[in-house]
Amino acid sequence: MTILKNDTFIKALLRQPTPYTPVWIMRQAGRYLPEYNATRKRAGSFLGLAKNPGFATEVTLQPLERFPLDAAILFSDILTVPDAMGLGLYFAEGEGPKFERPLREEAAVNKLAVPDIGSTLRYVTDAVSQIRRALGGRVPLIGFSGSPYTLACYMIEGGGSADFRTIKTMLYERPDLLHRILDINAQSVIAYLNARIEAGAQAVMIFDTWGGSLPAAAYREFSLAYIQRIVAGLIKTCDGARVPNIVFTKGGGLWLEDIAATGCDAVGLDWTCDIGAARARVGGKVALQGNLDPMTLFAQPEAIRAQVAAVLASYGHGPGHVFNLGHGVSQFTNPDHVGALVEAVHEFSRPYHSGQAAH
Ligand code: CP3
Repeated sequence: MTILKNDTFIKALLRQPTPYTPVWIMRQAGRYLPEYNATRKRAGSFLGLAKNPGFATEVTLQPLERFPLDAAILFSDILTVPDAMGLGLYFAEGEGPKFERPLREEAAVNKLAVPDIGSTLRYVTDAVSQIRRALGGRVPLIGFSGSPYTLACYMIEGGGSADFRTIKTMLYERPDLLHRILDINAQSVIAYLNARIEAGAQAVMIFDTWGGSLPAAAYREFSLAYIQRIVAGLIKTCDGARVPNIVFTKGGGLWLEDIAATGCDAVGLDWTCDIGAARARVGGKVALQGNLDPMTLFAQPEAIRAQVAAVLASYGHGPGHVFNLGHGVSQFTNPDHVGALVEAVHEFSRPYHSGQAAH
């Protein structure tokens, strides 16, 4: 068992005291970093990068070399799971992810099965062990997956979508088919996240990027119910340490009480929520992660610092906050501005963790 040199992130997720507010950034290993683009070029493609544990380790560590981040996130993608189910993931230049064989026909849905994680996703668990060795306990490593509904969006639409017409048609016309897909996805995600935890992931996050596109009742039935099953099925302790989990539904601000009721340790917030108001609603039950608008990073450092200070002040005094953006960092972001954000979080957050209240 490696002793963590910096465990502020894990402690904050468990709502335990820390000397400052920990920070990491969604998509911290990505195209805004020139060194990422250089490694991606050597790997030949995004999938060449993600499927090679050596390259995945290299890019996972790149943002940590630049910034004093409090967590590392495994470099991979949520869509490796449907890829392992045989849907044929590929990236068309400038068009984002696509599937060669989208799931539309009843016969194909009936054939869908939980992939054998040990063989199909071996490259992911190998990357996790290699990254843990390379980190040497510097900061914890986050493993992640998509939510069953978010994965189904890509599996059924065959790629990104502006209106989710195909999956929503299935939802209203053949809910039985969609439930079958979601059931297989949930079982796969549980097996996948637990394999990552056993390989060394010290916290896990479920990305429900598209749950927020649903009406409230459909969100509960088609997205949250399956997230709840995953939370219940996750390994909670590994090597004597708690492995906390985070649930992030983009656009889920109206449903925070329901999300907190899944039994998760922390709820991710997008930038539309007031984090102080969110804390008043669910802060007694869960930690909160977020929630600076990623576009803040296009402003000059002084403006970024002011916005960081405002999020910290809104959350207020005491533990249970992990600082992050409200969604992934844009590829057009100036890396120095990410540096300004990380520095400001560390600098401004200490008074909120000292004995006396900061306001
Ligand atoms: O640093 C990290 O956060 C870890 C790695 C990570 C990636 N994708 C790398 C990636 C994580 C956690 C993800 C999650 C992911 N992937 C989500 C959920 C989070 C979210 O952003 O809402 C989703 C919906 C995907 C699917 C996906 N993968 C899309 C839509 C794209 C294209 C995005 C774009 O900006 O063009 C990807 C590709 C992808 N995944 C990239 C990275 C760094 C860019 C690919 C490249 O290098 O060309």
